[in-house]
Parts: sequence; C-alpha cells; structure tokens
Amino acid sequence: MFTATLPPQSAPKLPKDLFEAIQGLKQDLNAVILAHYYQDPDIQDIADYIGDSLGLSQQAAATEAEVIVFAGVHFMAETAKILNPHKQVLLPDLNAGCSLADSCPPEAFARFKAAHPDHLVVSYINCTAEIKAMSDIICTSSNAVRIVQQIPEDQPIIFAPDRNLGRYVIEQTGRDLLLWEGSCIVHETFSEKKLVQLQMDYPEAEIIAHPECETPVLNHAAYIGSTTALLKYAEQSDRAQFIVVTEPGIIHQMQKRMPHKQFIPAPPTSGTCACNECPHMRLNTLEKLYLAMEHRQPEIILPAETATAALKPIQRMLEMSA
Ligand code: 13P
Ligand code: SF4
Repeated sequence: MFTATLPPQSAPKLPKDLFEAIQGLKQDLNAVILAHYYQDPDIQDIADYIGDSLGLSQQAAATEAEVIVFAGVHFMAETAKILNPHKQVLLPDLNAGCSLADSCPPEAFARFKAAHPDHLVVSYINCTAEIKAMSDIICTSSNAVRIVQQIPEDQPIIFAPDRNLGRYVIEQTGRDLLLWEGSCIVHETFSEKKLVQLQMDYPEAEIIAHPECETPVLNHAAYIGSTTALLKYAEQSDRAQFIVVTEPGIIHQMQKRMPHKQFIPAPPTSGTCACNECPHMRLNTLEKLYLAMEHRQPEIILPAETATAALKPIQRMLEMSA
C-alpha cells in the first residue's frame, strides 16, 4: 500500500519556464533529480542522472543531496527511500506503480516462500518493499545473471517476481530456479510475428531487447540487456539501425547520443495501441515534477520495520555488483 500525503487538488499555478523554475527549486532544496529512461523526454533532459535500475540505486546510495526527486515508478523511489531513510524522497505521481510489482502480492509470496524453506530468495528490484523485506538478495536486469552465478551451486533458489527474466537467467546460468509467475504488461505486449515482419522491412537492423520480454521474442535478439546495457551496446556497435524491443522512452536517449543512427521501436501486438509505452512511467510529467518540488510532496513514506528489513538484500546486491 502506498502511504503518503496527496498533492494539492486545486488547479495548480505553473511558471512560464518550467525548466528554469525546476532548476531554481533544485538549488533551494539541495535536491537531485534521478530519472529512468522510460520517462518523458523533457524529464530526461532536466535530470541530473538518467539510468537503469541498478545505476539509479547506486546514485541514490551515493548522493549527498538532501532531497531526492525520483522520476520513475514507485518501487524505484521506494528503493531510494530504503537506502536513504532520513532523506526526503519525492515521486511526481504516487500512482506510478508497476504491473510486475503488482503481480507479486506479499501474502501470496509469503506462503510460496514458506512452502520452500530451504530456498534462497533472489528478487528482481521491480517488487514492493514488502517483497524485498522477504528476500535474501535483490537483483536488477543488469546484474541478475552475475548475482545468481555467485550463489553456491547446491543452493536452491526462488527467483521472483519476473518469470521472463527468470527464464533468461536459467538459460544463461544453467541453474534450476524456482520461478514466481509474474510479468510486465509492457514487455509482454511485443509480438513475435510483427517483430519478424519489421526485421524484413529493415534487414540491416539489429534487434536489441530487454530480458523482461518473452522467450520467443528474445530468441530474435542479437543482444539482450538492461536499458543501460542496450544503450551502450548500440553505441559500441558498428550497425546504423536498431529495432528496440523495450519501452520506447529510451529511444530519446539513444537518438540524442547517436543522432546518426536509426532506432525503430518494436511494435506491440495491437496495431493501434500505444501499449508498448509504460502507463505507470508515463504518469509523471514535467508539470508534476515541478509541483512535487514546489510542495515537497507526494513523498515516499515507509514503515520503519519494512524499510530496515528491505535494506539488507539491497545492500547485498550493491556489494555483489561492485
Ligand atoms: P532496467 O532499466 O533496470 O533495465 O529496468 C527496466 C524496467 O522495467 C524498469 O521498470
Ligand atoms: Fe513495471 Fe513494466 Fe512499467 Fe517497467 S515497464 S515499470 S516493469 S510495468
């Protein structure tokens, strides 16, 4: 459950130049703006740091700013709060949740864990603080394989909540993981058939994909990785065209860093919907970001006990990724 004060409901008064106003507030609050690649281009452009979930956690752990403005989804801002219990963490829209985190309800997961008491629990960072508190190690899409490889071979492992990332880790490590059957609505929307058709239209393009996608889609990818890894791969590749199979928000950053290359978003199953865009990430806007800083809310607030229990597995992840 999200516990925080709601933003004011009356029609907000906005300054003419939001970029300038946000820069001013950043100085006044001694704030840092951390943003994920799936955010609106305007938010990406004003952020102090843009990154994948691991990079964002590392930045949150290292920042000396007094206020963290987190332009991403709830579990990301929550992770920043767990790492900084005494700092204020603002999320522009408190309803920016995550279908993957929602696919792992704490009560059901507690029963699953209790049924397998000899298993170590490795949880993908895309989960609630309650699930983190029940986990032994957190991982992200950029370190999941490396983390599982560091666990002794005879140790049984539960991997939650993303079955697609779990299957990818099984394939990469040869380990027998017990998977929680959760998934992301955005990454499961990509159509293998349409991807193959698109590849025929762009025969020179390389397919690059996020491991939250389903196996039949991943089987067509020349490279699979976290958002940051996809960006780096495209930078290092000598190809000029890429079909990008993840939320298309990242294309803004790709195009900015590689204006001479072409990035084609992978199509969703339905031809007309924008369902390859994360509806949760897209709830944040530049206006809401300004208002959150102006009013210093909505703020992430967590029960101390949950936050303390959730910190341990996050710290383990940071140590194992150093
Ligand atoms: P990464 O940016 O860590 O690859 O994660 C993608 C994602 O699903 C964020 O919700
Ligand atoms: Fe969650 Fe999927 Fe959106 Fe990422 S893209 S925040 S996993 S719903």
